[in-house]
Amino acid sequence: MVKNAKKEETLTLIDNRTGRSYEIPIQSGTLRAMDLRQVKIDESDFGMVSYDPAFLNTATCRSAITFIDGDKGILQYRGYPIEELAENSTFVEVAYLLIHGELPSKFQLRVWIQDITQHTMLHENIKKFMDGFHHDAHPMGILVSTVSGLSTFYPDAKNIDDPACRRLQVVRLIGKMPTLAALAYRHSVGKPYVYPDNDLSYSGNFLSMMFKMVERKYNPNPILEKALDVLLILHADHEQNASTNVIRCIGSSHVDPFSAAAGAVATLYGPLHGGANEQVLRMLAEIGSIDNVKGYIDSVKKGERRLMGFGHRVYRNYDPRAKIIKRIAEHVFEVTGRNPLLDIALELEKIALNEDYFVQRKLYPNVDFYTGLIYQAMGFPMELFPVLFAIGRVPGWMAQWEEMLKDSEQKIARPRQIYTGPVVRKYIPLDKRA
Ligand code: ACO
Repeated sequence: MVKNAKKEETLTLIDNRTGRSYEIPIQSGTLRAMDLRQVKIDESDFGMVSYDPAFLNTATCRSAITFIDGDKGILQYRGYPIEELAENSTFVEVAYLLIHGELPSKFQLRVWIQDITQHTMLHENIKKFMDGFHHDAHPMGILVSTVSGLSTFYPDAKNIDDPACRRLQVVRLIGKMPTLAALAYRHSVGKPYVYPDNDLSYSGNFLSMMFKMVERKYNPNPILEKALDVLLILHADHEQNASTNVIRCIGSSHVDPFSAAAGAVATLYGPLHGGANEQVLRMLAEIGSIDNVKGYIDSVKKGERRLMGFGHRVYRNYDPRAKIIKRIAEHVFEVTGRNPLLDIALELEKIALNEDYFVQRKLYPNVDFYTGLIYQAMGFPMELFPVLFAIGRVPGWMAQWEEMLKDSEQKIARPRQIYTGPVVRKYIPLDKRA
């Protein structure tokens, strides 16, 4: 029994196998899984372990970075509501906030922007490395490899106990990510690489590296530049999602941050994480016209398919990011012309939000419902959608990685298992096997 715990802050557990009772302390509404270990049948018993595939109900860390209330549709970075950041801030400032915990002063922001801008260039050998990929290589595959490759270009990155060295790698990765992403894209379409233009903003420079052709200077459209910046802000962190869990897990072995970030990018590559907006576009194209929306919803209700861009593990309310994105879409379409699929999306949303099937299951549009439409209208190919997500998520990944390293409770991540294989058996020599 755990001593000195106040009655009202404990959970009484009765083991009906032995009749013993245990008082387990409750902290922040949470039980420590290790407190279950004392629950044993006898001294030879290993002790009770909690079983939670996919971490449905397990907190793996304490974190001061991002707060989400899924029922109320609230998302905050370091306490600041996402709506206020999207309205007033920039992606680079939000990156500072996530990494440092506070908004920067004017001077701090100037230095931060200068630092990031100074690290947008890549070592020329990375271009050679890129040249080795097939012409039709998926840019996410290229991104996974080149982010990981950065660890070989910057071997100092392994000094993870040195705060100044850690900060340098954070700045390097935020600075180089758009360059890697744009190069990966241009390689995949056979266009010449475009070097960073450090006169431009973070998002403006990315647009330049993506779309500049023969013009001497690329001048990004300010509305599209702002829209992209807001989209990056909306993706900057989302607490313990799959890719963030991976960067914490890989980082817990104390490897350099580039190797850990490559794992996070690889996680995002999966269609269940970074690829849903592409599925939304495919779905809208399949529906084809507003007249077919009702029939499509009927087939979703019959369980024949899912409505892509709807539903979320955490949000049981309108995803706050989707609300902001819907507004941005209007601004973008004023510049690019209306994406014809938008009308189908709006009709789909209108009908779905009034159908019992969706209301009862609390299924609302998520961040991916409208992003694909915007990216497509801006000229980004579908393969690049998860790449854009990855650029936005870097500050969150880096903040979570550093927080994990500084957390004295963290150790190398090593879950338990319930073994279901054969009990011990004797080795059979090859010539005696049936
Ligand atoms: N369309 C139709 N029905 C759905 C949908 C959907 N998009 N999402 C959930 N449901 C239904 C399920 O069939 C289930 O119904 P049931 O209780 O009758 O069996 C119920 O709602 C609960 O669904 P779960 O699968 O348990 O919900 P979970 O939290 O595991 O899944 C997920 C969340 C994966 C996002 C799911 O809603 C989904 O597949 N959505 C479509 C894909 C998508 O948009 N993904 C992007 C997520 S955002 C992001 O990753 C950045």
